Amino acid sequence: MSNDTASAPTHDTVLTGITTTGTPHLGNYVGAIRPAIAASQGANVDAYYFLADFHALIKCQDPAKVHESTREIAATWLALGLNTDNVVFYRQSDIPQIPQLTWFLNCVAAKGLMNRAHAYKDSVQKNLDAGEDTDFGITMGLFSYPVLMAADILMFNGTKVPVGRDQIQHIEMARDIAQRFNHIYGQHFALPEAVVDDHVAVLQGLDGRKMSKSYGNTIPLFLPEKKLKKHINKIKTNLLEPGEPKDPDTSTVFQIWRAFATEEQTAHMRKEFENGIAWGEAKKQLFELINEELREPRERYNELMENPAHIEKILREGAEKARAYSVPFMEKLNKAVGLYSLA
Ligand code: TRP
Repeated sequence: MSNDTASAPTHDTVLTGITTTGTPHLGNYVGAIRPAIAASQGANVDAYYFLADFHALIKCQDPAKVHESTREIAATWLALGLNTDNVVFYRQSDIPQIPQLTWFLNCVAAKGLMNRAHAYKDSVQKNLDAGEDTDFGITMGLFSYPVLMAADILMFNGTKVPVGRDQIQHIEMARDIAQRFNHIYGQHFALPEAVVDDHVAVLQGLDGRKMSKSYGNTIPLFLPEKKLKKHINKIKTNLLEPGEPKDPDTSTVFQIWRAFATEEQTAHMRKEFENGIAWGEAKKQLFELINEELREPRERYNELMENPAHIEKILREGAEKARAYSVPFMEKLNKAVGLYSLA
């Protein structure tokens, strides 16, 4: 589709959200945080990264946990060197225009479209399997979550949205909703595209399955050294003895190694596996490699966690930058739908 009217932007805006539930783990780091921070350090980026705390309420109704996770995730991104001069870094709930836009979008989004959302369908299926009513335990928050996500993106005219594979459908829904709005009210929104990076590793967890909070197999990102070592020692291996050749390509230890190592280090470890490196030794070296990369950020993280007022200040500055865009844009959208002064 061409942007043939003046209002929709023609340059790319990168935008992504991080739901504030849970504590970041190595899988989050390798798969999402590290590449996003690397991208934030390049010149000439127009990017919005935000803490999706409205989204957290869909999954978690424990206020203390939502609050703590927000602090942890903000501290994590800052400790790892997010460049907040290049990237607008804010908390979703500091932008009241997002829920306003959500309502506008709710009024054009087809209910049938939401019925097809994977997350909703999975919940329905679980209910049916358990012999429950279709909608047992399903809130409107869960059902209409793709609309909130569309508002997150369209509020800032995000065009490139880095996400995991599980989120592609939501970006397609955002496009669909944007098109409907544009069709009815004129060309206001650029159409977003999902950016899925096939090169970043999907890290395996302690048990060899994908590292994920829902499997309980994660290695939290900023564990103290001793605990990090303990977690790494828990990674599942086989019973091969020292001196017996080991297959790197089926090994979680090797897979995590590769996500942190240079190409040279990876080639070297491959040889070590063939030469029968002991599991204990491989894990020791893995600990050292990971710890080397995380030692300094961990110190900054601990300092930030002790100083939430500083985090708050940075988030408020980010929110101000974000509102410099969202406030006037929302005024324009209000006008477009017919909500404006009678005088
Ligand atoms: N739903 C996303 C996730 O679970 C997080 C998110 C919320 C998001 N709003 C967004 C991602 C907007 C990209 C753009 O990972």
